[in-house]
Amino acid sequence: MKITNKRILITGGTSGIGLVLGRKLKQHNNEVILMGTNPEKLLTLRKEGFTTLSCDLSDPVHIEKSIVEIQNKYHHIDILFNNAGVQYNYDLTGQGYPLEKIGKEIAINVTGQIILTQLLLPLLHQSNDPKIILTTSGLGAFPKQDGLNYSATKAAMRNFTVGLRYALKNTHIQVHEFIPPVTDTGMTRDRSEGKMSPKVLVDQIIPQLERGRKVLTVGKMRLFLWIAFLFPGIAHKIIS
Ligand SMILES: NC(=O)c1ccc[n+]([C@@H]2O[C@H](COP(=O)([O-])OP(=O)(O)OC[C@H]3O[C@@H](n4cnc5c(N)ncnc54)[C@H](OP(=O)(O)O)[C@@H]3O)[C@@H](O)[C@H]2O)c1
Repeated sequence: MKITNKRILITGGTSGIGLVLGRKLKQHNNEVILMGTNPEKLLTLRKEGFTTLSCDLSDPVHIEKSIVEIQNKYHHIDILFNNAGVQYNYDLTGQGYPLEKIGKEIAINVTGQIILTQLLLPLLHQSNDPKIILTTSGLGAFPKQDGLNYSATKAAMRNFTVGLRYALKNTHIQVHEFIPPVTDTGMTRDRSEGKMSPKVLVDQIIPQLERGRKVLTVGKMRLFLWIAFLFPGIAHKIIS
């Protein structure tokens, strides 16, 4: 079914994949609420006609305040795109990495997403056709060595997605996993090649969501997931 005339909340909506998703879904006559933390980006997006909401996913108190704001304003949410994420690349086995970054990466990529999802369930239940989409990563299927903590957060969210789907199976809420390939955003600014354009990615993902696919991704990532499952040694060579 076409995704149009829906109220859609996108975390990590101020840049990269989330922003491209937001722009595309807005063009399709959806009411898009973009969430992020950067005040300048949020202001610019309001001027572009988006509704925005500041929410720091590393801070549970801030999440709860944002949810109250949403509850006071809206009767329902149709689609929650849990898309925010950070990736701090470092050698965990080396010396001198600031320990608080490990906790922050987990707080944003895992704890914050789970809290937000739980607190939004009542508003999702009020929708006629609610969907939750969780953005994970191929690194959640096979880790990269200079991003072990990031990879672990994405593995956790892959597991959470499957569990949530079963936990909600007697409700009308559909749960989807979105696995971007390496995509050209701020997160991959240090990588020079092999990146997909976020626009090309989003143009492929929205029709998959409309068809109700559970795992939203592109062909080479589907192949990688099988390789990671069946032949971890080959997956290691690909990632390296
Ligand atoms: N790019 C890739 O190759 C790739 C591949 C696989 C998976 N992914 C996943 O795709 C998702 C989007 O990534 P991207 O590539 O679009 O990255 P990006 O351009 O760096 O965007 C990250 C988004 O997360 C938000 N964010 C960061 N810290 C936050 C916090 N404390 N609280 C709330 N929001 C916060 C940022 O908003 P503010 O700046 O406003 O805080 C921004 O909108 C992530 O979950 C990422 O792990 C990306």
